[in-house]
Amino acid sequence: MPSLTNAAVEARVPPAGCRAVAHSNIALAKYWGKRDIERNLPDVPSLSLTLAALSTTTRVRFDPDARADEVTLNGAPADAGAAAKVSALLDRVRATAGLGWRARVTSDNDFPTASGLASSASGFAALALAALGAAGLSWAPPAVSALARASSVSAARSVFGGFVALEAGASEAAPAAAAEAASALRMVIAVTETGPKKVGSTQGMLGTQRTSPYYEAWRSAAPRIYTELRAALAGGEFERVGDAMEHSTLCMHATMLAATPALIYWNPQTLAVTSRVRELRASGAFAYFTMDAGPHVKVLTLADQAERVRRELEAVPGVHRVIVSAAGGAARLEGAA
Ligand code: PMV
Repeated sequence: MPSLTNAAVEARVPPAGCRAVAHSNIALAKYWGKRDIERNLPDVPSLSLTLAALSTTTRVRFDPDARADEVTLNGAPADAGAAAKVSALLDRVRATAGLGWRARVTSDNDFPTASGLASSASGFAALALAALGAAGLSWAPPAVSALARASSVSAARSVFGGFVALEAGASEAAPAAAAEAASALRMVIAVTETGPKKVGSTQGMLGTQRTSPYYEAWRSAAPRIYTELRAALAGGEFERVGDAMEHSTLCMHATMLAATPALIYWNPQTLAVTSRVRELRASGAFAYFTMDAGPHVKVLTLADQAERVRRELEAVPGVHRVIVSAAGGAARLEGAA
């Protein structure tokens, strides 16, 4: 913004900062692999459901007196890696706004972070929105999504509510109109381990791309699975949605298993839960599983079957807790930090 003096930029900065909330999302058609590592662009299309039950609240305040960015995650100072990722996003915002001030950032999840459930999606979507607001900028959702995507591809999808699509190579996500499906369906999450995940998604996918002999097969299968899933969703054909969802996660994990070193995110409970899901389905229930870069199992079911699925998953030995979630809304600014 060369036409603005620094003083004009600083005058637009709300002194109290900004607070934003974003929900996590689970991909039904998975993203795994980067087309452009530098720009962090996805190699395959993905489609997710934003989840009401998992959210992050992030506060950002640009402070003329701060000497460095100060980042607190769930009440504790962020480790160096996480703090650097937060500063990289803030740097993009500062560069666009023409603002030199460092920021104070706090971010809190309303779900157990130590459980290893993905928090980067909701975290970076909330951070993008809060940082823009705190810098006095007001961007349309696609631009917010692109900003979040540069830090975490899955975060691009958390800017929107309901079902959300992100095309291969795309900068930003977009809502995938399927409001009826979003209100009819539930995601039931079986937490099968406590503690953070062992191999982060970026490291995991770069290793897979580099070494898995199945990566090219995944790269050509993923768009077909995505197209099938989107068509099934648009037609309200939930069994087809579930079949495509399981196919997506199994293809993704098969690709990871064939990497060197092998990337095995599952534990015995992961397989115990997937077996239970298949038994439930054989007995007439609507239940389909999906797993991400961790051992937890997310089960897609219908609203009126969610309680039964919850009880069944809670009874699987080794399952620590079960969270039932409806579709969540878009990320939102909530005002002053
Ligand atoms: O964007 P990241 O680094 O959070 O990677 C997400 C990868 C998966 O969760 C496994 C799949 C997905 O599409 O969310």
